[in-house]
Amino acid sequence: MTDLILPGLIDVHTHLRVPGGEHKEDFATGTAAALAGGVTMVLGMPNTNPPLTTPQAMQTALDAARRDSRCDVGLYAGASSADSYLLPQIAANAVALKIYLNDTFGKLRVDDVPTLAACFETWPRHKLIAMHAEKQSVAVGIGLAAAYDRHVHFCHISRREEIELIAKAKERGLPVTCEVTPHHLLMDVSDYERMGVWADMRPVLGTPDDVAALWEHLNSTVDCVATDHAPHTSAEKRSATPPPGVAGLETALPLMLTAVAEEKLSLDRVIELMHTNPRRIFNLPEQPDTRVEFTLQPTTIRNETMFSKCGWTPFAGREVAGYVSRVILRGTTVYENGIVSAEPGSGHLIPTSS
Ligand code: NCD
Ligand code: ZN
Repeated sequence: MTDLILPGLIDVHTHLRVPGGEHKEDFATGTAAALAGGVTMVLGMPNTNPPLTTPQAMQTALDAARRDSRCDVGLYAGASSADSYLLPQIAANAVALKIYLNDTFGKLRVDDVPTLAACFETWPRHKLIAMHAEKQSVAVGIGLAAAYDRHVHFCHISRREEIELIAKAKERGLPVTCEVTPHHLLMDVSDYERMGVWADMRPVLGTPDDVAALWEHLNSTVDCVATDHAPHTSAEKRSATPPPGVAGLETALPLMLTAVAEEKLSLDRVIELMHTNPRRIFNLPEQPDTRVEFTLQPTTIRNETMFSKCGWTPFAGREVAGYVSRVILRGTTVYENGIVSAEPGSGHLIPTSS
């Protein structure tokens, strides 16, 4: 019994961990998790080890993606002070550029104006610049969008002050867009106090007022819902230096459709936030004959059924309105009732123009 049919979802913020973090995730497991969550296209983040700031690292990641991916994959290039002169060379193989303005997992960071200027001057104008920007860094991103008159996309916005600043920039007609994650919509600082490292991520969980602000802007200022799927192993989370980040690919759609069942937003809006807007903003190709079937039957999220290598989710034990029952990608059933049938290598690399 299928109750809802949706287009293949696009996740514009996924950490697939190749090269260097294959014990956390790889293209085969990450894209299996994507399909199990109704996601047929992912954009992989560049904070790998080494990071995707050089043609060599980008080639290593692309080769692995071509060999192992079960859904369609595009990759971000990363910005760094040392390698910014290489941006024109790696642009041809990247879907977009990611600039980290704040601390998070990995060493990628930009905190000087000359590197920011190099990014905005040399990155091809027809390709997007995405930013990890928190608090006043959002103002830096808006300032750059205005100064260079070019589009800036803000990743995982989590605070009232940030979403309200982006709303003001949009009112002024500035070319900015933003995404929010299901965990910032559905968890808050009290979950962190209860769960500790298992609910630690960047940006950190907000106050109830921050969460309320994201919901207030979900039908207007917010452009995309993205997972920020950031798997780390249980052993790493239990260690003396637990890395921030939580998995998200398999839970995003069930959680958002539960919010629809609770009349917090419409099904059409979920499709805009997780398919139509990501495709338009990142200029991504259409996937013909592709759809997701979702069965409305109350279900509990469980760690045991996950395809992500990390094997745990902060949402385990949560009741959701249903589950992804089937995914069809380009006319072929690639996921059905708990089984991923897409082979590694059957996913397409998203073509990038230079
Ligand atoms: C991400 C990771 O683990 O790569 N962690 C996180 O907490 N979100 C990095 C990031 O997206 O900032
Ligand atoms: Zn991320």
